[in-house]
Amino acid sequence: MKVGIIVSGGREHAICQALSKSKKVDELYCFPGNAGTALIAKNIALNVEDFNELKKFLLSNKINLIIIGPEKYLVDGIVDFLEEQNIKVFGPNKIASQLEGSKIFTKNICEKYNIPTAKFGIFENISEANKFIEKNNYPLVIKADGLAAGKGVYICNNKAEATLGIKEIFEGKFGKAKNILIEEFLEGEEMSYFIITDGKTIKNFETAQDHKRVLEGDLGKNTGGMGAYSPSRLINNELEKKILKKIIEPTIKGLKEIGTNYKGFLYAGLMIVKNEPFLIEYNVRMGDPECQTILPKLNSDLLDIILACCDEKLHETEIKWLNKKSLCVVLCSKGYPEQYKKNVLIKDIAKIKLDSDEYCYHAGTAKNEGKIYAIGGRVLNFVCLSEDFSKARTKIFDLIKLLNWDGGFFRKDIGYKVIDK
Ligand code: AMP
Ligand code: GLY
Repeated sequence: MKVGIIVSGGREHAICQALSKSKKVDELYCFPGNAGTALIAKNIALNVEDFNELKKFLLSNKINLIIIGPEKYLVDGIVDFLEEQNIKVFGPNKIASQLEGSKIFTKNICEKYNIPTAKFGIFENISEANKFIEKNNYPLVIKADGLAAGKGVYICNNKAEATLGIKEIFEGKFGKAKNILIEEFLEGEEMSYFIITDGKTIKNFETAQDHKRVLEGDLGKNTGGMGAYSPSRLINNELEKKILKKIIEPTIKGLKEIGTNYKGFLYAGLMIVKNEPFLIEYNVRMGDPECQTILPKLNSDLLDIILACCDEKLHETEIKWLNKKSLCVVLCSKGYPEQYKKNVLIKDIAKIKLDSDEYCYHAGTAKNEGKIYAIGGRVLNFVCLSEDFSKARTKIFDLIKLLNWDGGFFRKDIGYKVIDK
């Protein structure tokens, strides 16, 4: 089979590598790919934003399946567009993708089906929102409705911060805002819970905990993710049953009632409060770097799982996992998530020799005349499987030392809640 993947970073390199192990995959294509995917796939430079250009390439090259990684294209309706051309595509359609594309859409589903989530209000203008924050306790959480690439959420400790958040959102900092969400602050510990579904069958796709903040101790600015570990220390059978019964199943049912079948990965960002799950947000894709952390544990053929999902035969497929711990450390360009230099040579990357439990997934890298350059904020993801989180992290640090790259930095405390207790 010929399989294509729409790529944005390390998550898709991990998907690509898992697919490359499948006997059924003859050729892989990445749009546009990076220096890592270039080793196992054909990198194709075309403008994915132009769905027509992509369609032409897929049809003329007889690509049998296309996997969509990033949320933006899903929310823009790439699945509906390609399915109309009879192209097999993995990912949720435009309506289902509203679960990530509109926080208000998701909150309305939560309300209708009694899904546990933070109490909330929706406000259509500045004065209504300002009136509401007058009489509320802090902290309060203020959110833009649409996609904001991990930004657009203000945790406000006082009225001044809340007023600023409301002003910036309505002024269009995260795109045109018709309304705003204000919600109660939930005190607990976060967990990422993943499933894959064809709309009929729901299968667990593991748990993880990511570290979104740039500085050690989970401080500083939010980033795309500085590292993760899997499984989450919070998961247990009782909690998992509650997540499925109270959150995931009613959501899939709710979409069905509005005429939509959810197909693809679904990522629930949860706050766990005394072993009770609350939904913070949905993402209609795998997490990044959670995907890089989870996929090395997969002990089944990823292509079989994805095809079964596309064909609504997920019930026939068994998803097996290695009983190991996994930890991922993300290496970033100095300055990220603010300004950083681009096109910086990573000169000792060839010195990295990985054993069978070690992985190095590329994100913002490019190859030029045989050399590998950092071109993005998040550059490389080092992942290690082990029976022990601490051993996994030590092995990753040993790999990073070999790299000897002074243009980069990483957090040395990834997994501190399961290691440095
Ligand atoms: P979101 O983009 O909705 O996932 O929010 C980004 C981050 O803000 C989450 O990962 C949480 O750390 C935090 N957050 C969002 N909503 C809440 C809430 N209601 N209570 C506490 N923290 C929240
Ligand atoms: N790890 C957070 C995300 O993928 O959105």
